[in-house]
Amino acid sequence: MKYCDLGIIGMGVMGRNLAENFAGHGYRVACHDQRPETLDRIGAGTGQAKPITTTTDPRSFVAALRRPRILLAMVPTGPPVETVLDTFLPHLDAGDIIIDGGNSHFRDTCMRESQCARQGVDFIGLGVSGGSDGARKGPCLMAGGPAKAWAKVGPMLERISARDRSGQPCCARVGPDGSGHFVKMAHNGIEYAELQLIAEAHLFMRYLLGMPHDVAAEAFSNWSGTEAGSFLVDAAVKVLRRHNPEGKPVIDCIADRSQQKGTGRWTVKSAWSLGVPMPVVSASVNARYLSNQKDLHSIKTRRCAALRQTTLSPDGLLDAFIAAKIIAFSEGFSLLEEASKAFAWNLDLQRISALWQGGCILQSNLLELAHAVFSHADETSKGLPFALREPVRKRLAELAPGWREVLHEATDENMPVPAHSAALSTYDAWRFPESGARLVQGMRDFFGGHGFERIDRPGGEIHREPWRAHEVIIS
Ligand code: 6PG
Repeated sequence: MKYCDLGIIGMGVMGRNLAENFAGHGYRVACHDQRPETLDRIGAGTGQAKPITTTTDPRSFVAALRRPRILLAMVPTGPPVETVLDTFLPHLDAGDIIIDGGNSHFRDTCMRESQCARQGVDFIGLGVSGGSDGARKGPCLMAGGPAKAWAKVGPMLERISARDRSGQPCCARVGPDGSGHFVKMAHNGIEYAELQLIAEAHLFMRYLLGMPHDVAAEAFSNWSGTEAGSFLVDAAVKVLRRHNPEGKPVIDCIADRSQQKGTGRWTVKSAWSLGVPMPVVSASVNARYLSNQKDLHSIKTRRCAALRQTTLSPDGLLDAFIAAKIIAFSEGFSLLEEASKAFAWNLDLQRISALWQGGCILQSNLLELAHAVFSHADETSKGLPFALREPVRKRLAELAPGWREVLHEATDENMPVPAHSAALSTYDAWRFPESGARLVQGMRDFFGGHGFERIDRPGGEIHREPWRAHEVIIS
C-alpha cells in the first residue's frame, strides 16, 4: 500500500483547495470529512490524476498516512478544532503532528499544544492567508509550534506556498506555540484597517470628487504602481467594475452593513491587553459595528447627492491613503514587537514583512519598504514604531499636507473618515509637544488619589497632591 504524505481534515473551500494544491505538487493526500458529498467535489475540474484518498472514517484516514503522520485540520475556529482533537488524538502516536490551519485564537493554540504534547503529539498553529485562490495556487503560511515538528512539515508547506518578491517561500515558522496564529491575527487586524481605508477613499471619490464607479475604479487602478498598490486595492477595482446580469453595478446592490468573524476585534483586545495603541485598527473595527446601527438611519441628515464637490486633486487622496496605511501597518508591527517581548517569541519583523509579500490578503507594495526598513534597523531606530523610522518618517512629512486637506474636506462635509482620521491623530499625537495627559493625571489624583509622576522628581516616584488641604487660586 502506498501511504499518503499528509491528511487534510475538513473539505470546505479551503481544505479542498489545499488538497488540490498539495496533489498538484506531487504529494499523496488523504482527505477526511464527515460529509461524503464534500469528498466528491475534490479534484473536480482540475483535470489532474489525483493522488488523493478520501474517507469519512477517522480510523482508515489515519491508517492511510505515512509515519510520522501529518494531519492538517481546515475546520472552522472554536469547537470544531476540539472535535478534531477528540476524534483523532486517540488514533495517533508520539511523534505524529497535528496542524490547525484555521483562524484560531493564539491562546487556544497554546492550550492545544500542551494538550497534544501530553501524548507526545506535536501541534502546530498555522495562519493561512489568501482565501480559496491562495489555498489553490499558493497561500501565505505563518506557523507557530515546535521546531522539531517544523523540520518535518516545513519543506512540504514551503513547496505549496506563494513566493515573496525575492522568490523566497511565503511560509515560515515565525516562533513557538501560538505565535503563528498571533501573526495571522495581526495580519487580519491590518486587513480590517486597509479595507476600511479603501472604503473611506471610495466614499471620498464618489461623493466629494463626484466619480462614478468606473472612474473610481480607474483611479484605484492607477494606484497600483504606487506605494498604495495592493491586493485589496485591486480587489476594490474588481468590485467597482462588476455588473450583475441586469446591468446594475454590484456595489449598488450590496447592503451597507459590514460583517466580521472577529479577528480584528481579537487584534484590538490583544493590543490593549499588551498596552499597545491601535487607533486605526480600532477605528476600523468600530466602523463595522457602526455600519450595523441601522436604527440610526432615520436621523441621516442629507442626501449624498447634495454634497459640495471638492477641488482637491485626487493626488491628495492618494497621499492621505498611503499615510494612513503606513500608520495601520505600523500599529500591526508594534503589536508584533510587544507580543514577541511579552511571550518570548523572538519574532523577526524582517522575515514577517517578506512573508506577507505574497499569497496573503495584505500583499502590497508597502511591504517592500517595510522589509527594507526592518533589514537595516540601526540603534537609533530601535524601539521606534515603523512609521517613525527613516525613511518612512520623512515620507509621512511629505504626505501630511494632502492628508490634512482630505480630513478638512471630509469633515467640512460631515463625511465620516474614521480610519484616516485616527491615523492622522496618531501622527499628531507622536509629534505634538503635549498629549493632555498632565491634566488627566491631575484630575485622576484629584478625585481618586491615584498620584502622578512629577517632572522635577525621578521617574516612578509617585506624588499625591493634598488637594483639599489648601487651595491655590490662579488669578
Ligand atoms: C485571509 C483572510 C481570511 C478572512 C478572515 C477575516 O487572510 O485569507 O484574513 O482569513 O478574510 O476570515 O474575515 P472577517 O472580516 O470575517 O473577520
